[in-house]
Amino acid sequence: MKALVTGAAGFVGSTLSRTLLRQGHSVLALDNLSNYYDRPLKRQNVDSYSGLPGCTFIEADLNMVDLDDLLSGGIDVVFHLAGQPGIRGSWGQEFTTYTRANVDATQRLLEACMRYGKLRRFVYASSSSVYGQAETYPTSETTLPRPFSPYGVTKLAGEHLTGLYRANYGVPTVAFRFFTVYGPAQRPDMAFTRFLRAAVSGTPISIYGSGEQVRDFTFVDDIVTALILSAQSNGVLPPVMNLSGGSSVSVNAVLDTIKRISDNELLVDYTSPVKGDVTRTGGDSSLALSELGWAPETPLSEGLRRHLEWVLATQ
Ligand code: NAD
Ligand code: UGA
Repeated sequence: MKALVTGAAGFVGSTLSRTLLRQGHSVLALDNLSNYYDRPLKRQNVDSYSGLPGCTFIEADLNMVDLDDLLSGGIDVVFHLAGQPGIRGSWGQEFTTYTRANVDATQRLLEACMRYGKLRRFVYASSSSVYGQAETYPTSETTLPRPFSPYGVTKLAGEHLTGLYRANYGVPTVAFRFFTVYGPAQRPDMAFTRFLRAAVSGTPISIYGSGEQVRDFTFVDDIVTALILSAQSNGVLPPVMNLSGGSSVSVNAVLDTIKRISDNELLVDYTSPVKGDVTRTGGDSSLALSELGWAPETPLSEGLRRHLEWVLATQ
């Protein structure tokens, strides 16, 4: 396939781009290298695949670049992973950064894909945060989304836009709701990268609230497998599907595993809960299983070991 990957310098986008290239696909990798976290980290992510045959990397902003021109190069699949992530920072003045990256850019890309009219699949990175404090667990796609953070509102708006362009203009969209993704190249603001780096360096970490909040952590390679399966499938797919790791675990339980596998103590400071942080996530991924034959394959202990190896290799 000839794929456009947006957000290709980020955590999930760089892992996807590298995998696609290793499988022999061509990738037009686009990212504006936003300053949400260290740009050198994003450069390293791009360096990990940009020398592979079939890759073109473009530093550009989705809200400004000529998208008609990009697509006219013969793109058949768009993986739209660009966005402003992070639940806790989405309050206050930052909200416009979120609407611009998650709503405006998504709408602009969908317009261009509608005009182009030749896509086989448009894959959108949605989020478990659209569910908020869900009423049922494991949560299925039929549950009414009720975001609990401004970030979740913007991801749900982006997801609704994909549904609109699908229903009105036949853009072949599918939105995947990722549940807290971890693994090598995870963003520096996310829990596991922070906890593992702290375990290795002996520095303290803050746990927001009691640490009894539960997440359905999902290993990044499992996410990438599902995205590629959806691009390769010929049939009509449901508009929205969950991708969850299959084991809902508390943050405190993760800390115990990290102590064990790193053979280090953790200096933990329990602080106040943060606004927008939900008590629990837990996804029902049976729709992805029936539609794509996908199920998560990486147990948390193995995924954490691989994440730790990356932390040790990049300290
Ligand atoms: P990330 O920040 O590492 O990657 C996102 C990339 O998008 C960044 O490199 C950034 O520079 C780029 N970007 C932002 N705005 C852009 C724009 N206007 N034009 C071009 N590039 C732009 O984040 P991630 O963790 O890899 O997340 C990828 C996607 O998956 C995001 O859309 C996020 O909302 C979604 N998601 C992530 C998780 C998770 O646990 N990591 C969970 C659910 C959903
Ligand atoms: C993650 C991503 O950051 C979001 O972009 C994504 O949309 C979301 O998953 C999702 O699944 O939809 P989050 O679950 O907050 O959000 O992921 P982490 O940053 O890994 O945090 C996990 C838990 O650890 C949270 O309860 C958080 O409060 C806690 N945490 C995190 C701490 O206690 N201390 C920290 O330093 C970091």
